[in-house]
Amino acid sequence: MSEQILIIGAGSGIGYGLVQHYLQQGKAVQAISRNACPAALLQTKVNWLQLDVAAADAAEDAAEAAINKIVAQAVTAKPTTIFICHGWLHDNQHGPEKTLRQLTAAQMHKSFAVNVLQPAMYLKALFGYLTKQPQVKVLVLSAKVGSISDNQLGGWYSYRLSKAAVNMLVKTSSIELGRYNKTAALVSLHPGTTDTALSAPFQTNLPSGQLQTATATAERLAAVASGLNPELSGKLLNWDGTVLPF
Ligand SMILES: NC(=O)c1ccc[n+]([C@@H]2O[C@H](COP(=O)([O-])OP(=O)(O)OC[C@H]3O[C@@H](n4cnc5c(N)ncnc54)[C@H](OP(=O)(O)O)[C@@H]3O)[C@@H](O)[C@H]2O)c1
Repeated sequence: MSEQILIIGAGSGIGYGLVQHYLQQGKAVQAISRNACPAALLQTKVNWLQLDVAAADAAEDAAEAAINKIVAQAVTAKPTTIFICHGWLHDNQHGPEKTLRQLTAAQMHKSFAVNVLQPAMYLKALFGYLTKQPQVKVLVLSAKVGSISDNQLGGWYSYRLSKAAVNMLVKTSSIELGRYNKTAALVSLHPGTTDTALSAPFQTNLPSGQLQTATATAERLAAVASGLNPELSGKLLNWDGTVLPF
């Protein structure tokens, strides 16, 4: 049987790039998204599962039950590589805060809802499966700006805070998972600057060569996934597989 891949947050940007990458490699892909399956994928080996849970409601009973149900469906295929791709940085009302004076509760709530709460509830739903599946690998997309020791520039308060929190979520869950499954690897992963809706307003003045297409990033992240081992569990990894400081 071909290797089974699960991409959660598969509907846009890097998540969608990963779906396309693995399908091109001939893998069987399970995808979970708020969005319907893109027309381009209708005739492929993807099993597209749609669930639109508002990020802020992810820990409410009904939303959690819906997440549990869709994850239970997805893991019947026994995926051994799982990506969680949720992330939010800005919208029409909010841009990353340059100063503490711009911080608002609304932006902090939304940032934590998408960047922490959603991945946390999906990890919780997956946990029973992860404790039992040999050699399972889980990669949660985070960001280098969530590294506290690497922070030289300041700014981007809500995003930085939420990414530092998701790194701690991954570290803490990896310790618990390791008690049950010594062959599992659970990491957070900085994908590198990638041309998606999330990074679109911040692409000017980037050093040449830094901006990657979603296709190139997916290729790099899949290489990190295939080289992942349990000794790396709990770490924050860069797009090239090197370990970044927390
Ligand atoms: N692009 C970059 O340069 C860059 C750099 C560093 C880190 N990252 C991280 O990489 C991950 C993927 O980012 P991306 O660039 O692919 O972003 P994107 O194109 O904006 O995609 C957003 C992702 O978040 C999911 N999502 C779930 N609930 C959401 C909500 N309420 N609002 C918005 N999105 C929601 C989407 O899943 P569905 O639409 O399928 O539900 C999708 O997977 C994120 O964790 C991001 O922080 C990206």
